[in-house]
This record gives sequence, C-alpha cells and structure tokens, in this order.
Amino acid sequence: MREKWATRIGLILAMAGNAIGLGNFLRFPVQAVNNGGGAFMIPYLFALLFLGIPLMWLEWAIGRYGGNVFFQGTCPGIFYGLTGKKKFSYLGVLALWVPLVIAGYYIYIEAWILAYAFYSLIDHIPKLTGTDVKSLGVFMEFFKSVTDVKVSYVFYLAVLLMNFIILYKGIVAGIERFAKIAMPLLFIFAFIIMVRVLLLETPNGTAIEGLNFMWYPDFEKLLDPHVWIAAAGQIFFTLSLGMGAIAVYASYIPRNADITLSGLTVVSLNEFAEVILGGTIAIPAACAIFGVAGAQNIAKEGAFTLGFVVMPGVFSTLPLSNIFSFLWFLLLMFAALTSSIALVQPLITFLEDNFFFSRKKAVIVTFLMVFLLNQIAIFVPDALDEMDLWAGTIIIVLTALIEVIVAVWVYKGDILEEINRGGYIKVPGSLRFVLKYITSLYLIALLASWFVKYIPIFIAKTDWNALVTRVILIVAFILLLVLAGKVRLREVKE
Ligand code: ALA
Repeated sequence: MREKWATRIGLILAMAGNAIGLGNFLRFPVQAVNNGGGAFMIPYLFALLFLGIPLMWLEWAIGRYGGNVFFQGTCPGIFYGLTGKKKFSYLGVLALWVPLVIAGYYIYIEAWILAYAFYSLIDHIPKLTGTDVKSLGVFMEFFKSVTDVKVSYVFYLAVLLMNFIILYKGIVAGIERFAKIAMPLLFIFAFIIMVRVLLLETPNGTAIEGLNFMWYPDFEKLLDPHVWIAAAGQIFFTLSLGMGAIAVYASYIPRNADITLSGLTVVSLNEFAEVILGGTIAIPAACAIFGVAGAQNIAKEGAFTLGFVVMPGVFSTLPLSNIFSFLWFLLLMFAALTSSIALVQPLITFLEDNFFFSRKKAVIVTFLMVFLLNQIAIFVPDALDEMDLWAGTIIIVLTALIEVIVAVWVYKGDILEEINRGGYIKVPGSLRFVLKYITSLYLIALLASWFVKYIPIFIAKTDWNALVTRVILIVAFILLLVLAGKVRLREVKE
C-alpha cells in the first residue's frame, strides 16, 4: 500500500509549505519593485491565471493519478502510465533533475539562515550606526563572514541533518507532522513582523511610504517584454511548478479525494504569503529606515542583500532587535525547510516506486546525491547562480511544457475529468482549452525568450567554475536518464 496523507489539513499545509519558500519573502519583493511596482501585478495576475492555477491543478491531477493507478509519484513513471509508452519515461527525467539541482543550492542557503537565526539569538548581529545605505557596509561584511565556508559549513551540516530527519520519518510522520507545526508558526511570525514593520517611522521615511513606493504602478514598464517574463518566472518559482515537487506530494492523495478546492486553497495561501506578507515586509522596512532612494538602490542588489544584509540592519535599530531578527530568520527557516524537503522527496519516491527501495535506503541514497551537489554549490564559485539559472529559472519552464504536452496533448483520456474527480468544486470545461492552447503557447513563448536571453550568456561564460558546474549537472542528468529507463509500472489494487 502507498502511504497516504493522514488529514486534509495536513495535506494542504504540506503543499503550502512546498510552495511557500524564500521565493515569497525575498525573491518576490525584489522582482516586483524592479519590474514596475504595482504594474507588475498585471503580468503577475495574468501568469497566475493562465499558467499558475492551470498547472497547479494539472500537477495535482497527474500526481494523484500516477500514485493511485500505477504506484508512480514522479514524472518518468507518470508519463509512461499516461501514454502507455515506455519512451515517455525519459521525458520525465527533468522532473527529477530540476528538484535535485534546486535542492543542491537551496539547502546551502538554509545554512546561512540558520547561522543568522543563531547569531540573532545570541545577540551577535552588528548594529546600524547611520541612516544611509552606506552604513550597511558592516552588515555586508557580516554576511560575508557568515557565508564563508569555514563558518557556514557547520550550519550546513545541521540543516542537512534536519532535512534528512524529516524525510527519513516519511510522508505522514515526517513531512505532514512538520508542516502542521511549521506553517502556522510561519504565518504567525510573518504577521508579527509585518505589523512591526508597518509601525516603522524614522526621519528618513515610513513603512507606509514604502508601500506607496512598492506598489506605485509604472505602467510604461508593461511595454517591456522582460517584465512579463519576470512575472511568469516568479509564478513558476513561487508555486514550485515544473519542479516535480507538487506531483510527488499529490501521489500520496487518495484517488477520489478533492484536489480542485485543495489546489486552489494552496495557491491562495501562497499568494497571501507572497503578495500581502512578502510584499509588506522587506521593501517597506527598507524604505522606512533608508528612505525611498535608499530602498531603490537596495532592490537592485537582489534578494540575498535584502534578506541577509538589509533586514538585519533594519531590525538592529529596534528595541528587542535580536528577537525580531530571530523571528525573521526562523520564518525564513520554516519557509525554506518545508520547500527543500519537497525538492528532495521526488528522488526518494522515484527510488521507492521503481527499485523497491525501503524508505530508509531511498533516503540515504538520495541524500548522498544531494550532498554531492551541495558541495558544488558550496565550493565552486558562482555555481549557485549557475544552478539557479538552469534549474530554477529555465528548465522548470521546459518541464512544465513537457507535462502539458504529455497530459493534455498525448494522453488519450480527459485530464479535466481527472482534475475534477472527487472535487469539492468543479473546474469548468474551458480549462481544457486554456491548458491546451493558452498555457502551452505561453510556455513556448517563455522558453524561447529564456533561450534568446541566456544562450549567448551561456556560450560566453567558459571559465573553469562554469565548466565544472556544468559537467556535474550533465553527469547527474545522464545518471537520472539511465534510471528513468528502468521505470516499472505496478498495478495498484485498492
Ligand atoms: N516555491 C519555493 C519558493 O518559493 C521553491 O522558494
């Protein structure tokens, strides 16, 4: 028997944990501010409606189908089952490679978060001495010292162990139980921090001015195709689409349980965490302390600077600074951990489903691979960015496109029927049209634009670090391809 989620709330929290991650609190505010502020929400909503929600339902549906009909929770087996053709299992390999590579760097970022949480607790974070952006220099130095491998490696081993323990315990006793604790706490911490940020007022500015700055709609930006691409990329990353991570969780849902309302609930929770909480915390806080011009410069520096340099700087100006800083990093820790376990799970499931590994053995083998990839992210300069670019930005779109081709174009059954099976709400037939034409074309356009933009950069970058990273990523891909050829479907008897 395949393990099943014990409760509906547990499933929803686990799936919400899967989606809600660093993307919501760090990536989103930077993307929004740099791509038109309030106007960014137009392409963002468009991508949510035509990519995000349809793909979310699709991934839930193929995962539940695979798990219940063929005992398969990952795309190689699901594609084989959906089409009846073994060769399609090779197309599913990207949905194993992508999450593995993302976990390869994501877990290392967790190490920085844990280090910051620890240093906050022992009150070891620097204090801001001025009110201009330059005074953040000391925080930048601190960030460098924390991310120095001599310091971060200890924390890395600790977060690796945390991921390992949760996954070793299994779906219900590990993932579900952890999500039931971590997700409510995440929302509570985010709410406390948001309220505190909204009360910020300094001679430089206020958080409310920050909200005005964040959401000021620069409609001219809508003429720039990059803004549309950035919005779609954000939807992908934040909802964990094209990563194989949603389908794998869905494979542990009973055959006739609702996925329509549950899927929509998870999307809503993710958007609440992203737009309301994520959109109200970091940038408005930066505005209140450093003024609008300061925040503008900060946003250009990217998500890591915002989360690890600016936010500790902001908190250091407050009474009880270490408590707020600790809550912020604990919030990030929960957001990241609930996502990273979902990124490691696909390979575990794949080994269990096809090679009949015990959970223990599957977890150990998977973690050996994750560990190896982590070493690349840790020790090879710029590897983290290279891995994020390929796995976290470009190939996720290709994976989603292949999912749509297989489940909507090639699959002989009706995918909408599969989505609606047992649903508390019924998705209208127009979704079939949306998936078949709008989502597909959208994905092709997106993919083409990524390639046009990044292939020249890829070709131009030929230093040793890039080469080593690419060779390892290709070797991992070939290994997974060989394994995908060994998929074995099993008929599930209820
Ligand atoms: N969806 C996850 C995040 O937003 C990967 O970080």
